[in-house]
Amino acid sequence: MSLQFKLPRKTRVAKKHIMVLSGKGGVGKSFVAVNLALALRELGYRVGILDVDVHGPNVPILLGATDGAIYADERGMMIPIDVNGIKVMSVRYLLEQGVPLIRRGVLKSKLISDMVNKTNRGELDYLVIDSPPGTGDELLSTIENVLVDLGVVVSTPQRIAMADVERAVGALRRLDVIPAGVVLNMSYIRCPFCGNKISLATIDKERMLEELKRAMLYNEIERKLLDHRMKKVKVSAKDPKEAKKELDKIRREMRKDVEKIARELSMLSDVKEIERRLKEYGLELDLSRVEEFDILAEIPLDVETMKAIDAGKPMKVNKEIKEIFLSLARRLA
Ligand SMILES: Nc1ncnc2c1ncn2[C@@H]1O[C@H](COP(=O)(O)OP(=O)(O)O)[C@@H](O)[C@H]1O
Ligand SMILES: [Mg+2]
Repeated sequence: MSLQFKLPRKTRVAKKHIMVLSGKGGVGKSFVAVNLALALRELGYRVGILDVDVHGPNVPILLGATDGAIYADERGMMIPIDVNGIKVMSVRYLLEQGVPLIRRGVLKSKLISDMVNKTNRGELDYLVIDSPPGTGDELLSTIENVLVDLGVVVSTPQRIAMADVERAVGALRRLDVIPAGVVLNMSYIRCPFCGNKISLATIDKERMLEELKRAMLYNEIERKLLDHRMKKVKVSAKDPKEAKKELDKIRREMRKDVEKIARELSMLSDVKEIERRLKEYGLELDLSRVEEFDILAEIPLDVETMKAIDAGKPMKVNKEIKEIFLSLARRLA
């Protein structure tokens, strides 16, 4: 019985593809994607943005480049809009040109794949992807079509948002990408009188980070150990339907045991110790990426910026925010 799936071919269009995602909308995902792209550009890199957020393709608005039209070159490749040297491709442009995009709320994979493959961006160092919010079909069809080297999850620092972060991390794991970390947007405001930080966080950030890492460790151990054990399973049934039934049953039984091990191991504080213990189960696992998962940046809420954007002006952030994004860009580059 063959269990081969046909996966879309994923093309590399830049040396590094950075996906910005969030568990839900309105947390500043586009804001982070655009500022990160601008910062990378400022550091001298060749940068492209791919905006496939069907719910709010707002990248062109933030960049003040909403009236671009996409033309094709002589080879039939789409020419992205150039904004200060950044190659911008957005669902918004195609929507405005009347390209039929949405069927039952899902951006057609073909279109995403065309936006990736059939766009002539020239050579790029970084492609920053503004993905649809949430962890539904829209995100999954993006993930299926776009190569991702590095994931950045955007959230606000409230407890209620953390479940969304976990889901976003889980969605990335389908790609076998462990996100580099989380950007906490709208973390504080600056007092206009004394300049002190006024925190908007309702969580203990260090504890939140610990909890997230532990959830990631648990998932990683559970998934990899289950796969590892299932690989060794041999079924006796010849009939494919019976064989599948048998496999499902074995998997269900195995899962209980594996979950128990994952729970126990993920409570250990030393990752090297976890790896050593997994080796005893015959599994070689490198958990260093989970260990490195971090709060990548904390970004203030800038009321002036927010007002300007709402008034339809292109985004212009203050010096503090600019500096934060420059150090984020250096860290991810
Ligand atoms: N740190 C910030 N300071 C000021 N305005 C912000 C900040 N982060 C986001 N915004 C603004 O808040 C709104 C929502 O952000 P957006 O990036 O569109 O969210 P998402 O893409 O997650 O739906 C936008 O108008 C955005 O420009
Ligand atoms: Mg957005």
